[in-house]
Formats: sequence, C-alpha cells, structure tokens
Amino acid sequence: MQQKLSVGTVPQWILTDPDVYRAEVERVFARTWYYLGHESEIPEPGDYVTRWYVHDPVLLVRDRGGEIRAYLNSCMHRGTVLCTADSGNKGSFTCPYHGWTYNLRGELTGIVAGDRVYGEEMNRDEWKLRTIPRVETYHGLVFASLDRDVVPLREYLGDLAWYLDILVGRSDNKMEVRGAPFRWVVKANWKIGAENFGGDAYHTAMTHRSTVELGLSPKDPMFASYGHQVVMNDGHGLNVITPSPVAPPIPPFQGQPEQLWPEFERNLTPEQLEVFRGTAVIDGTCFPNLSFLSPMHGTGGHAHLTNFLTLRQWRPVGPDTVEIWSWFLTDRDAPEEFKEESYKRYVNTFGPAGTLEQDDTEIWTRITDASNGLMARDKNMNYNNVMNYVMGLGRVEVDPAWPGPGTAYPTCYLEAVQRGFYEQWNKLMVKD
Ligand code: FES
Ligand SMILES: [Fe+2]
Repeated sequence: MQQKLSVGTVPQWILTDPDVYRAEVERVFARTWYYLGHESEIPEPGDYVTRWYVHDPVLLVRDRGGEIRAYLNSCMHRGTVLCTADSGNKGSFTCPYHGWTYNLRGELTGIVAGDRVYGEEMNRDEWKLRTIPRVETYHGLVFASLDRDVVPLREYLGDLAWYLDILVGRSDNKMEVRGAPFRWVVKANWKIGAENFGGDAYHTAMTHRSTVELGLSPKDPMFASYGHQVVMNDGHGLNVITPSPVAPPIPPFQGQPEQLWPEFERNLTPEQLEVFRGTAVIDGTCFPNLSFLSPMHGTGGHAHLTNFLTLRQWRPVGPDTVEIWSWFLTDRDAPEEFKEESYKRYVNTFGPAGTLEQDDTEIWTRITDASNGLMARDKNMNYNNVMNYVMGLGRVEVDPAWPGPGTAYPTCYLEAVQRGFYEQWNKLMVKD
C-alpha cells in the first residue's frame, strides 16, 4: 500500500537521491545567494582567496581600486583551474597550463608568444575571465549568485538581517575573520547540517549529553528549549536560546568584554539590544546553506564560559557528501586576550576535531548510512520512509510580544524552522 506524505513529513530519499541532488544544484543553489567569504579575508588590493560555489571554483579578489570581484577560477584557454592556492596576494594570475595571464580585473594581459601564435586576429577582450554574475556584501559578508535576476542581497536576507546585525553589525569596526577557514568532508547530505543549525535545539540534550555529564550544561532536559524560535522569509530561521532557569545567570551580551558594550549600544536598536543582552546561544541558517552559531562554552562551570561566533557553510559535494567550511569571527575592537580565549573555545568545541562537532557529524553520517538502502530510497513510498517534522505543529502559538521581526514561537524545542526550510526548498525545487 502506498503511503501519502502528510503535513510535517519529508521523504527520507531526498537526503541521498542523485536526481534530487542534481536538481538542487540547478534549482536551489543557482537561484539563491551563496556565501563566499568575509571581506576581512582579503583586506588589501591583490589579496585573494579561492572558494567553491557548489561545483564552480571561484577566485575572490580585491582589485587595485579596492573592489571585490569574483571570477570562475577557470582559464579561458582550456579551462584548467587558474589559481590553485587557497589564498595570497598577487598582481596577476598566470595559468599553469600554457601561461596565459590575467590581471585583477580579469583581463587577459599576457599570452605566451602571443604575437607569433595568434597574430592580430585574437581580440583579448573576448577572453576575459568569466565573472560570477552577482556579488554583494552585508556587514562584510560576501555573497554571490549565479542568477543575474536574483533579488538584491539585502532583500533576500529580509528579516534575517535584523539578527545578523546583532552578530556581525554590532561594533564600530565590525568583525574580522581569524585564521583561515577550517574545512573538512563529512559523509552526509548538506541539508542535514543546514536544518540542524537552523532550528534543531532538541538534539542538544541527547547528542551533546557529554556536556551535561561533564557539568558544562545544566542537568535540565529542557535546557536548550528556553527562548524563541524564529521563522523568516525565504527559508531562513534561527533559535535565540536563553539560559535554563535552574542554571546560574549568565553575563549580558554573552559575556562580551565590557569595553564593547558602548559600541553595541551605538550600533544596535533598543530591541536588538534587549534580545542580545539576555541570550545564551544564537544559532540559525541563512537559506540554503550558510549557518551561524554564537554559543557560550567553557571547560568547567559558568565562570569560564566564553562566547564565540562561527559561520558555517555546508558545501554540497555530492548527494551524500558535504564539505564543511567554518569561519571564526571576532569583533575587531575586542581585546586580544578575549579573541584568543574565544578562538580556543571555538576550536575545542566546533573545530573539525571539536567535542561537539564530533557528536554531530557521527550522527549525521549514520543518517546517511541509514538513508541509502532500498527501503529509505523507495520513491513509490511503499514503506514508511518519511522523516518526522511535526514538533509543535498546531500546538505552539506565536509570541506577539517578541521584539524582533519574523514569526517567533516561545520555545526552541520546535521544528517550525525546519518546516520553513523545507517549504522554501520545495518551492524552488518545483519552480521551473
Ligand atoms: S589552459 Fe590556461 S593557458 Fe592554456
Ligand atoms: Fe549539535
């Protein structure tokens, strides 16, 4: 007997099916904004980093005039990857195959023995590097889109911008990325991480139970539920988690150094300050695959809790493989001592070998293992091969008193963000 999809369910095969994956690359990723990096990674003219826009290699460069440009990192002669380094500073890029050279504006400025082998006929203007059609920034976050007609980035971010301001727009001199982004490959579909960071506070008490056993998290099974889950436009969503009532109180602004507080007050609205002041953890996802996490972690007891901010990109590599990119950000104006402490907390917990990171990736790999068989992959739905996203459906009312934008619910043990994520995903997948 065939089973029908009901409200709040998602078929399990969307995590592993190759046809779904191919469609996602074209229908989801080619039509949305895709995070490439942070302005502070390329502060000087000639600075560059190499990145991926799913399967398109990207060369992100700051040109002589200070403008950020994004090119397909592929030579116009025979298509090889033009720049193979992760980052650096250059005045021009020379192809390792036959030596064509391009300047920072993508212009073809040098051809080995050009006059002799091509003569006058070759118009170099026709052989510029291909630019990624749209590149825009928000508080230093550089996004690109392959869709020339995509809405402006600010419009795309919509209500999420209000919350991003709290994380990356709060201080006078904004944020800087420390170190190079970590990246590692996990055998998991990209959506698993995106939806987990977007709204899955519920897994915390179980998956990260060792933090409770070590005394780093409260012995309260609801400890990650307090606060609000906020559902926004275009599949974006987040949790703003407040401390458990049975845990010791936490300092304002996630324990950020007091010298930054006047900057927060200058750059944020009273409503943003109210949310930021009382929060313990903020986690969320900018649809489709950029997540952010601003928790507080320590090595023993609340006295040592330190906040950090990390941006996370779930770069799809295949239906069941994701390359995780992770950036650490800190307020440029924070004292060096705090930056160092914050960085250590990040590496200890959510770095590639971080304690909490390993908890998550182990589970996500097992989801992939369990979603690759004939039963889970049966598109005729002859088995009960759906995943359950019904938590809170019709049970939790919107909180009208929430000071921020979006649709806010007064609990984080909820799957409203995940439902919003898949609604947007489905909308794009079925749209021609
Ligand atoms: S492929 Fe780049 S110069 Fe030939
Ligand atoms: Fe987790």
